[in-house]
Amino acid sequence: MFLNKFVGWFSHDIAIDLGTANTIVMIKGHEILINEPSIVAVKVDKYHHDGEILAVGKEAKEMIGKTPDNIRAIRPLRDGVIADFEITEKMIRYFIERAHKRKSFMRPRIMVCVPYGLTSVERKAVKESAMSAGAREVFLIEEPLAAAIGAGLPIQEPQGSLVVDIGGGTTEIGVLSLGGLVISKSIRIAGDKLDLAIMDYVRKKFNLLIGDRTAEEIKIDIGCAAPLETPLIKLIKGRDQVSGLLNSIELTSEDIREAIKDQIKEMGNALHGVLQEVPPDLAGDIVENGIVLTGGGALIRNLDKYFSDIVKLPVYVGEEPLLAVAKGTGKAMEDMDMLERIAARS
Ligand SMILES: Nc1ncnc2c1ncn2[C@@H]1O[C@H](COP(=O)(O)OP(=O)(O)O)[C@@H](O)[C@H]1O
Ligand SMILES: [Mg+2]
Repeated sequence: MFLNKFVGWFSHDIAIDLGTANTIVMIKGHEILINEPSIVAVKVDKYHHDGEILAVGKEAKEMIGKTPDNIRAIRPLRDGVIADFEITEKMIRYFIERAHKRKSFMRPRIMVCVPYGLTSVERKAVKESAMSAGAREVFLIEEPLAAAIGAGLPIQEPQGSLVVDIGGGTTEIGVLSLGGLVISKSIRIAGDKLDLAIMDYVRKKFNLLIGDRTAEEIKIDIGCAAPLETPLIKLIKGRDQVSGLLNSIELTSEDIREAIKDQIKEMGNALHGVLQEVPPDLAGDIVENGIVLTGGGALIRNLDKYFSDIVKLPVYVGEEPLLAVAKGTGKAMEDMDMLERIAARS
């Protein structure tokens, strides 16, 4: 224990970004051991009430929408809260054990980044599952803090920074200064809600039924928050709601902008709300340094432009937004001061 004080990141320390959509396990040097969907496939039938686990991660995602009735794909952290403790624990253990198989660790120290809104009971469950998977020590870090560190914001300075992390289940906004969160806000409107809005729109406007994986693909391929200079087009296949037959249609990026505009607007409102609460001393820094976007949602075309137009401040997409939180979690472990503060809080 005492020795820990003199060394930063051990070669066998592990950083885990336990996201609502994706879990990333990283080790020193930003080497990625695991990058898979936070999904568990369980068997549900009259003999398996408690749900035998059939697959985790990518394999489980493949099963969504294509599974017989007795297999259910569960996203245990879907809305930024733990829907099912047991399954969450099993998922964490599974990912840690798989990481162990790729590299073997001597009882690692593990830092886990969790959605901001987790209750203390939920946080304890996450810690215990990491301990039971063989950790020597477990630290938890809040998502906006990890996102800001990962995006390279100068959070240790007496200078305000603002980060917006748009994941699958939650959008988390944090104002940071001197290594801590000054203001934070988490809303349950993020990537998943955009997928649902796209499914809805396609059903209402074209009478076409599509699944959530198709909706996500559409969002990634042609989605935008503000009009594109050259609109994008995508051919979609689905089932016609009226005839019941398979049909295909052409969707444009403008369709998708229309489909997701209410959700994007709510994200903008949340950002606006946080800006109104920023202490005057930090406001100047944010005006000067701008706002950084991280998480998969940061990749929505022109989202930076859309936010910038409504808050009248510069907005940037962080480098490798899908990896920012995992990188920030790893970096937090290298920083002993930060580690001690985090340990004191958790
Ligand atoms: N290129 C992209 N454009 C738009 N959305 C994307 C893109 N890539 C990933 N996403 C979305 O980002 C979300 C996942 O982001 P992530 O930061 O991994 O979430 P979490 O931290 O909640 O696990 C999903 O909703 C996914 O559809
Ligand atoms: Mg995340």
